[in-house]
Amino acid sequence: MKRFHVTTFGCQMNEHDSERMKGMLESLGYEESPSRDEADLILFNTCSIRENADNRFVAHLGEAKRLKSEDPGRIVGVGGCWAQSVKEEVFRRFPFVDVAFGPGQIHRLAEFLNSDSISAQGYFEFEDFSGDLPARRERPFQAWLQISQGCNCVCSYCIVPSTRGREQSRRPSELIEEVRSLAADGVREVTLLGQNVNSYGRDLPPEERIRFSDLLGLVDSVDGIERLRYTSPHPKDMKEDVIEAHATLPSLCEHIHLPLQSGSTRILKAMRRTYSRERYLDRVEMIRDRLPDCSITTDIIVGFPGETDRDFEETMEVVDAVSYDSAFTFVYSPRRGTEAAAMEDQIPHSVKKERMAVLVDLVQARAAERASRFVGRSLEVLVEGPSRKDPSRLRGRSRHNKAVNFEGTASPGDLVEVEIDSSTSQTLAGSEVLLSGIGG
Ligand code: 5AD
Ligand code: SF4
Repeated sequence: MKRFHVTTFGCQMNEHDSERMKGMLESLGYEESPSRDEADLILFNTCSIRENADNRFVAHLGEAKRLKSEDPGRIVGVGGCWAQSVKEEVFRRFPFVDVAFGPGQIHRLAEFLNSDSISAQGYFEFEDFSGDLPARRERPFQAWLQISQGCNCVCSYCIVPSTRGREQSRRPSELIEEVRSLAADGVREVTLLGQNVNSYGRDLPPEERIRFSDLLGLVDSVDGIERLRYTSPHPKDMKEDVIEAHATLPSLCEHIHLPLQSGSTRILKAMRRTYSRERYLDRVEMIRDRLPDCSITTDIIVGFPGETDRDFEETMEVVDAVSYDSAFTFVYSPRRGTEAAAMEDQIPHSVKKERMAVLVDLVQARAAERASRFVGRSLEVLVEGPSRKDPSRLRGRSRHNKAVNFEGTASPGDLVEVEIDSSTSQTLAGSEVLLSGIGG
């Protein structure tokens, strides 16, 4: 039997695509290999967002090159956003690569493997959703559901519009059918995925057009789906209807990811984010009013071109005012072909690093305060497996998306109540509440 090995970089969208790749390969009769050197097919699913991702990935590719020279029958494939952003250049820079494909062409990998082509091939036109391919889920009780692909925004730092193209929503009927079959398969938690999930549906023909909040309602109504999440929404489209959905739909979790990027209106303008600091804070207030216990998390970029000390202060003020439950912080890094990469006033690396350190301190202090509100409460936890640090304990996630390490006897996939007795900025700890004796 032929064996494959996949290495994934980047975001959840990529993790999802990798699951589809694995499912597709298994249906072609391949088997997963735990290590790269035992694989006949070495795949990389790449990202172009994170700083140094290119470099990290180049080191991995070096190993693939060595393995390929030892056994030229091996196939090396590079997929994902980075491949899409450089296209045919992949082959020029890395002549040992056999196949390269963008995020919309995962199905072409199968075609390549079944052809007797001996020359390298690249596939970069968006054609299809990976959602239509068979999946191999990492955990049988959790699934991603890709609801749209691409993005119509023009954020000046972001490469996604050029790698994943214009927004294309999948039809609601198709999505609901997929959720039903996931639920029948034992899935209890679904995460809707898209670059800008809450603008879902606007590109659909009128007879099929529904709002994102309507889609949330449809998924919520599928029997067996006990937890519903989504990522990422755009603050500009975070309207009352979505917040109301959080208040009323039983499966929709108490967590909203609301990417800030910057707390300075001037920088937000240069980023082409289409909202101001005030408008963003207004969204937060609306969430806090209607959903006081909801977790709010965010993405922040430091060191965008032209960011002054004052602009950075304004970001710190917003972080202070909102008190995020957690935040992904990014050092700005120029991406080829984006508007911001050509801007003057690029910020020196040393300044970016300093700002990042100060920001991370504040983010963690606020996250620790927020997490302490759970101590003494009992939370519903979806069990994922053994705790990473102490395998005699269990690990899972609360509806607020907090990692919880706890004492207990439950199995992966179980929903249990956990009494929380301590917290840090990142995790909660406690013990499982045994329900015997209660009720009856
Ligand atoms: N530099 C740094 N961070 C970026 N992000 C996107 N593009 C860049 C870039 N060029 C961050 C944004 C986005 C997250 C997924 O990655 O914060 O929300
Ligand atoms: Fe994900 Fe963006 Fe990286 Fe593509 S470029 S893998 S969408 S983070």
